[in-house]
Amino acid sequence: MSAQSARAGASSPTGTPDGRTSTGTDTPAATIDPAILDRWDAQQAAYIAGREARFDALLDVLGLTVGEEPLVVDLACGPGSLSARMLDRFPGARVIGVDLDPLLLHVAHGVLGDAGGRLTLVDVDLAVPGWSARLADALNGARPHAVVSSTALHWLRADELLRVYREAHDLLADGGVLLNADHFRFDDRHPELRRIAEAHDEATQRAAFAAGAPTWDAWWDEVRVLPGVDALAQERERRFADRPPNPPTAVDLHLAALAQAGFTTVGSVWQLLDDHVVLGRR
Ligand SMILES: C[S@@+](CC[C@H](N)C(=O)[O-])C[C@H]1O[C@@H](n2cnc3c(N)ncnc32)[C@H](O)[C@@H]1O
Repeated sequence: MSAQSARAGASSPTGTPDGRTSTGTDTPAATIDPAILDRWDAQQAAYIAGREARFDALLDVLGLTVGEEPLVVDLACGPGSLSARMLDRFPGARVIGVDLDPLLLHVAHGVLGDAGGRLTLVDVDLAVPGWSARLADALNGARPHAVVSSTALHWLRADELLRVYREAHDLLADGGVLLNADHFRFDDRHPELRRIAEAHDEATQRAAFAAGAPTWDAWWDEVRVLPGVDALAQERERRFADRPPNPPTAVDLHLAALAQAGFTTVGSVWQLLDDHVVLGRR
């Protein structure tokens, strides 16, 4: 997918660093070359084998469970990669993208704008209980049909993850679905599978970088020198300073957490080695 396809004018709502949903009147729209989102996708695909297939599976199951015109919350949306794909695949969809990183929200807003009134970005820390209340303005009394996420919830500690799943469950409309695409890990119970998955990851990275994909660090070097982002970059540093990566979690922890959060149907609907899309149906 090219970032250009979801781009529909960069004129309104965005998240603001204090967590409010802005109408855009006090936050002028940035104009950012959409190729920066394509390069984000290229670097992410270097670290996640089968990333597009994983997105496709999530989108297929989204359409099959909640239909073609869903109201969706994209948890930890980053620069808008999954949001853009949902907006492209489902022209009747509306997406609320939430993230803690003010610079990634700025990129999402600069590239995607408000997607013709279909995309709202909100500055939210998922580790803080009560995060769903911050979506009240954007939801305007509605309850989402789906809560989705990609390559993100592994940033949360296990207790935070359980709380996020529980809060997402309570936020969803009856019959709504949670779909989380992420890189889980094989632990000591599965050393052989872990070895194969790690070798596969290394081969994926070698091939992607040889084909010109930027590394994570190279992509960030490019973003930090965008005009007018110094304060956002500093705020980003401040927010993530005391958040070291968490120990990796295995897929069965997620399935148990979804069940404990109250979801009825729970399962993995797609897998490539240690990459999964897990589902919970309310
Ligand atoms: C690897 S990026 C994935 C972005 C996007 N979903 C994708 O698949 O391209 C991980 C995202 O998680 C976000 N994140 C990490 N901790 C968070 C938190 N506590 N609350 C909200 N977002 C968080 C980061 O800011 C980042 O945007």
